[in-house]
Amino acid sequence: VLVNDVSLRISAVAASQYPTDGWPEIALVGRSNVGKSSLTNRLINRKALARTSGAPGKTRTLNFYAVENELFLVDVPGYGYAKVSKKQRAEFGAMIEAYLTKRSVLRGVVQLVDGRHVPTADDVSMYRYLAYYELPVLVVATKMDKVKRSQFNRSESMIRKTLGLTPATRVVLFSAQEGFGKDAVWDWIEAHMAA
Ligand code: GTP
Ligand code: MG
Repeated sequence: VLVNDVSLRISAVAASQYPTDGWPEIALVGRSNVGKSSLTNRLINRKALARTSGAPGKTRTLNFYAVENELFLVDVPGYGYAKVSKKQRAEFGAMIEAYLTKRSVLRGVVQLVDGRHVPTADDVSMYRYLAYYELPVLVVATKMDKVKRSQFNRSESMIRKTLGLTPATRVVLFSAQEGFGKDAVWDWIEAHMAA
């Protein structure tokens, strides 16, 4: 996908607001603060179309980014953020689950994990959930600019082992700051748009 034309179509809080164009969608999921909005900005070559923040829990809606009149990238609210109320968490959870399990145009999910650390119990639950629903998953390890190159293989093995990835599931080591890994993410998205 050559990205020239991209815009935020809608920040949705309810399914009735989701786009009806019928374009394929790729969702980005991961813990709060893992770098979903930063990955989105990198993919679409914008500095700050998706709002990023040092404070976790910034993204609280399903944000549909329209790319070239053919694809939506969907930035999903982060999970595992302790400071939102129980009620809010339950509401986010229900919205995200409904989206992931019932959205017919959803072609795949990019699950982000923090490449600097062992994946958390929440990360493992999310991967199992996606696998259970047989959604195609690409795992992206973010913030890899903070990890020594000599540790890259180790990071990937740890992620594979902890999440219990099926051998066919790919892992991309990514940095929003430096930009590496972006082409591999796009390749995966393009391969799954038609599916
Ligand atoms: P929520 O919307 O709160 O769920 O967070 P998010 O997953 O969208 O994270 P966001 O993109 O806002 O990034 C959170 C913080 O991590 C920001 O301070 C980013 O600058 C930083 N960050 C994101 N990606 C990278 C990366 O690849 N490298 C480094 N060094 N920092 C990153
Ligand atoms: Mg965000």
